[in-house]
Amino acid sequence: MSQIVYLNEKFLPIEQAFVPVLDRGFIFGDGIYEVIPVYSHRPFRLDEHLVRLQHSLDSVRIDNPYDNEEWSRLIRELIARNEPEDQYVYLHITRGVAKRDHAFPKDAAPTVFMMSNPLVIAPRELFESGVAAISAIDNRWDRCDIKAISLLPNVLLRQLAIDAGATETVMFRDGTLTEGSASNIFAVENGVILAPPKDNHMLPGITYDLVLELAVANGIPVEVGKFDQARIRQANELWLTSSTKEVLAITTLDGQPIASGKPGPMFWRMHALYQDYKARVMRAPE
Ligand code: PDD
Repeated sequence: MSQIVYLNEKFLPIEQAFVPVLDRGFIFGDGIYEVIPVYSHRPFRLDEHLVRLQHSLDSVRIDNPYDNEEWSRLIRELIARNEPEDQYVYLHITRGVAKRDHAFPKDAAPTVFMMSNPLVIAPRELFESGVAAISAIDNRWDRCDIKAISLLPNVLLRQLAIDAGATETVMFRDGTLTEGSASNIFAVENGVILAPPKDNHMLPGITYDLVLELAVANGIPVEVGKFDQARIRQANELWLTSSTKEVLAITTLDGQPIASGKPGPMFWRMHALYQDYKARVMRAPE
């Protein structure tokens, strides 16, 4: 079965989906996106994703082309038209097609694109080994809360990690932890989960919220705040989270081990809570 995508009111095979070169997404990176994980054909926390989508659209002043009921219908149809049990839906809206001019076009209709890909969770070995990360100065703009498609800084930051043989880049702005190039970052210190605040310097992750909810529900203390580099480097554990990676332990930072250099007990606890939640809630019939 060929991959079916959605483009401007039509479902069609990906090979047949084309966007004009004057689309402002192509010319300016002028658009926003969402990534929604799908377990057993059910979109996870769709309402929360649609709230974040509305926040991104409002922030860049693009009118939402659909109401939530319509989004829900279209997303569910896209999922049904693609085979894998577990998928992730990528949803992308640009300001539309117009003659190149930085100013907003007066009458362009937004371009709406969605595709779904198989959601493949990390192999067991990766949970057991953890991943390497490097650090970098967070040189992005001041609106990292917007899920903007203009991801050049994130792309360059991620590539620094790849070039160093690592998986993710952990960023610090003015010396304090913000997030990863495509993930949120948590630390653990003396049994307490340290989390950066959901401000304009990080993307408010849906997985971030879930991790904190699971912590609170299970009596694990959480401290939300600004944490400087020295504190993060000396932490007992470091984790990254995202819809496509779930929770992974970061076991080295810039080649230096985090504590023992192995995923710690709090990571294993959160991993178990996450897997239990996935089985009980994410895969449960609606
Ligand atoms: N990225 N921070 C950044 C910069 C991200 O790009 C992502 C996710 C997150 C985690 O958000 P969530 O838990 O809602 O996935 C944090 C997605 C997966 C991507 O761009 O592909």
